[in-house]
Amino acid sequence: MKNFNYTKHIIRNGDFFISSDDNIRIMQARIKSSGDTLHLFDTKRIDSDWSFIEFKPSDTAKWTHGYHRYPAKFIPQLVEKLIDEYIASKNAHINDPFMGCGTTIVTAISHGFKASGTDINKIAYLMTKVKSTPINPDYLDRKIKEFLLRLRFLEGNYLPLSGEQIELLISQRHIERIDYWFTEENKIELGKILRVIYDEDEEIIRDFFLVAFSHVLKNCSIWLQGSTKPTRDFKKEPANPYVALRKHLRKMQRGNDAFYKVVPEEVKNNLGDYLNIKIGDARKQPVPNDCVDLIVSSSPYVTSYEYADLHQLSTIWLNLANDLSEYKKDFIGTSYKKYNNKKLESKIAMDIVDQMYKKSNKKSKEIEAFFIDMQEVFDESFRILKSGGRCCYVIGDTRLKGVDILNAEVFAESLQFSGFELDKIIKREIPLKILPQKRDEQTGRFANNNDANSEAYPIEYIVIGLKE
Ligand SMILES: C[S@@+](CC[C@H](N)C(=O)[O-])C[C@H]1O[C@@H](n2cnc3c(N)ncnc32)[C@H](O)[C@@H]1O
Repeated sequence: MKNFNYTKHIIRNGDFFISSDDNIRIMQARIKSSGDTLHLFDTKRIDSDWSFIEFKPSDTAKWTHGYHRYPAKFIPQLVEKLIDEYIASKNAHINDPFMGCGTTIVTAISHGFKASGTDINKIAYLMTKVKSTPINPDYLDRKIKEFLLRLRFLEGNYLPLSGEQIELLISQRHIERIDYWFTEENKIELGKILRVIYDEDEEIIRDFFLVAFSHVLKNCSIWLQGSTKPTRDFKKEPANPYVALRKHLRKMQRGNDAFYKVVPEEVKNNLGDYLNIKIGDARKQPVPNDCVDLIVSSSPYVTSYEYADLHQLSTIWLNLANDLSEYKKDFIGTSYKKYNNKKLESKIAMDIVDQMYKKSNKKSKEIEAFFIDMQEVFDESFRILKSGGRCCYVIGDTRLKGVDILNAEVFAESLQFSGFELDKIIKREIPLKILPQKRDEQTGRFANNNDANSEAYPIEYIVIGLKE
């Protein structure tokens, strides 16, 4: 550990590299200059092998991948291709510090690999856990039938829960937000359904139902359909919770059946030895030093999605946060953060922050905090990877208030500050149907294609660092 810190210290001073085993070998550092890194990106051509244009939504939502919508999730085919490129061993360990809805983790489990990771978002953790746990199809079928039978009884039961009972179920402090998003009728019905879900004793089955419940919340509310900003639509006819839930449970059941078939028996029988995921910060992975073969991840973007806001319907119904505004502060890329006591290391990042400072002091502080946080994430990636292991960060560049936010270039430079060799940069097109393509120029957030006033670049990069 002492050597590790020393190594990084020397690297950051820009001149030398000292081997982490002992302090014998001293070599010239291989950190590219900022100019060289930028040039690398300027001359990069799109690699069409990484567009996955031929895949249909049924392919990208195969197995358990279609359990829950999630902003900026990537497609399993991308993770599969990176695994094919870089993993030769049958006993690999794959990590994702920003699991989101678990695309990397599910893919690792389907291959029979160990999978570890974190997400600060409690609902993301729940999704990842449920999506990566194959459930015996016959057993799940029986549990779903029992559950639907109880729902049918509730649906015909015209004695709704009283306001007091609802308040016992949902935390008092969230009632106001629930009234903001839901009609009185759907609030009552959803409350009744949630109570039946909590009656289920077996944790994984209860969580399976909770994920289904969480997924239908948006449709059952007056949240503007398809909007990535929390906006109310007073003209919307919210879905009937029973109909929406039944339909979605059937879809999830089909997904589980297909996933169950691909996961190796050994993993199904000993899932606890293979799946190691936590609610937590990307800078603290739940694994020892030097044990991971491959990291495949996509980080949050600075001020693009406020994940805590976007999942507020699930957060309030499932009572996942005491205080929403406190909860937001732990998220990387949030606009609720700034540092006075930490310094940027990437020169490309410093330049972006300087440019933004001329437009908005507040935004420049947010961008600075984001890149500082990400530097610490890369330090953690370096700690956990084996020698010869790689980290692959999927990231796009953006533009905010007329300033180019060169996320990928900063990541490429920062990875080297963390001790990685910059192994490869892949430039890929994002097929139109998969990701929102436009950003609001003022806020930098992804926006509906119709109401944004600025184009997001329909390309992104996979920035790959090698730990030698
Ligand atoms: C782009 S998404 C990841 C999507 C994921 N690749 C998928 O396929 O679903 C970024 C994730 O970072 C998470 N996040 C934000 N701040 C974090 C932090 N400090 N530690 C861990 N995760 C964080 C967000 O909750 C979000 O789920």
